[in-house]
Amino acid sequence: MMKKVLVIGGGGREHAIVDALSRSPQVGKIYCAPGNVGIAAQTKCVEDGAKENSESQRDVLVQCIDIDVCDVLALREFALSHSIDLTVVGPEAALATGIVDEFRALGLQIFGHTKEATRIESSKEFAKQLMIKYNIPTAAYQSFSNYEEAICYVRNNPLPCVLKYDGLAAGKGVVIAKTYDEADKALQDMLMHQTFGQGRVVIEDYLEGPEFSFMCFVNGADICPMILAQDHKRAYDGDSGPNTGGMGAYTVLPFITQEDYQYAYTEILQKTASAMINEGCPLSGVLYGGLMKTRDGIKVIEFNARFGDPETEVVLPLLESDIYNLFTFDFSNVQWTKKCSMGVVMASKGYPGKYEKGYVIEGLDDVDAKIYHMGTRSGSDGKVLTDGGRVLMVVATGQNINEVRNKVYNEIGKIRCENLFYRSDIAYQAITN
Ligand code: AMP
Ligand code: GLY
Repeated sequence: MMKKVLVIGGGGREHAIVDALSRSPQVGKIYCAPGNVGIAAQTKCVEDGAKENSESQRDVLVQCIDIDVCDVLALREFALSHSIDLTVVGPEAALATGIVDEFRALGLQIFGHTKEATRIESSKEFAKQLMIKYNIPTAAYQSFSNYEEAICYVRNNPLPCVLKYDGLAAGKGVVIAKTYDEADKALQDMLMHQTFGQGRVVIEDYLEGPEFSFMCFVNGADICPMILAQDHKRAYDGDSGPNTGGMGAYTVLPFITQEDYQYAYTEILQKTASAMINEGCPLSGVLYGGLMKTRDGIKVIEFNARFGDPETEVVLPLLESDIYNLFTFDFSNVQWTKKCSMGVVMASKGYPGKYEKGYVIEGLDDVDAKIYHMGTRSGSDGKVLTDGGRVLMVVATGQNINEVRNKVYNEIGKIRCENLFYRSDIAYQAITN
């Protein structure tokens, strides 16, 4: 029997997950809640195995369903009534509702962490305490709920300092304060005006060095590493402008040695998986290490309890083996291609600040590369419209990064929309002249 999978989420990350699942020889039908226009159009003919006659082709049907990612009851009901074999959770907000616990209580198979384990992302303080307790390298920190105490700490410590709201803040809860006034304003917002809620604030030392993302599939102590990727967090070229959710990503990383990789794998990812078991909340989904290679070694900047976005869009296309096995925690015989990959995000002008939606996007059919939809919707006439801050991601893979980069920029130039912009220097660290 071909498997039926439910993917929860509706961004570029979930589009890449659906794309990878549609290549699985075990999967016959994919539902995505709520999905997006690109995901809905994903239904396609897949070559089955090496056979070349037309009988070896089959359709993997993809259907978007209008259920919110946090509507656990409706999702559970859907999974039961449609005999879903496996549910894969994309966004952290859904994990933080406890959806995994709810599904498992009914014996439904689901890929993602329990509510308790999701604290590794949803609570900065939990993550910091865990790292200190288990000697996992990270920046020194203190946490505060009181504004006066927090500002006093800032006054007595060197600048810049890093202020992190202790809770989910949609990627906006981190401020790197270079001046006392900046720190003061951020602390007032977070602790006095409670812009994000009633959480505490973690204040940590400022670290320097290149950042990279190390994602692993984890089931208890069992770990399966993915290819390393680097995200580009700043809005504009030359890593300037405000922090965003990520403007592009690439693999393979030239600044990470085999030794760095081993260190990060054993001293950070493996150690964290064991620590979570010890704390009584084993991991059962993706552990994402946002790491930095500082002069004093590799350190953790943050953990996420899910696939990174946009890293997933460049990493999963490199997976050669069956992702259904990974989602059901069979980590044997996993294979990645030796190729590299790169993707550029097209975002609405004004993002990450205020932006307008509803602009027509043209030229998508002319593009000879993967296009993952991040924030689009279809207009009444079937046209694709912008519908978010990050709108599309164009991704290609190939033998070397120069070639892949030329390809992506060539193809992205075919997409026409008056309200989109993108960085023109993604993967600059890896490009050789
Ligand atoms: P986070 O949401 O924790 O990943 O933080 C967002 C971004 O802020 C990171 O990707 C880093 O670029 C930066 N950042 C966070 N913590 C630090 C730190 N301790 N030192 C320097 N930069 C940081
Ligand atoms: N790319 C960073 C994140 O997914 O949080």
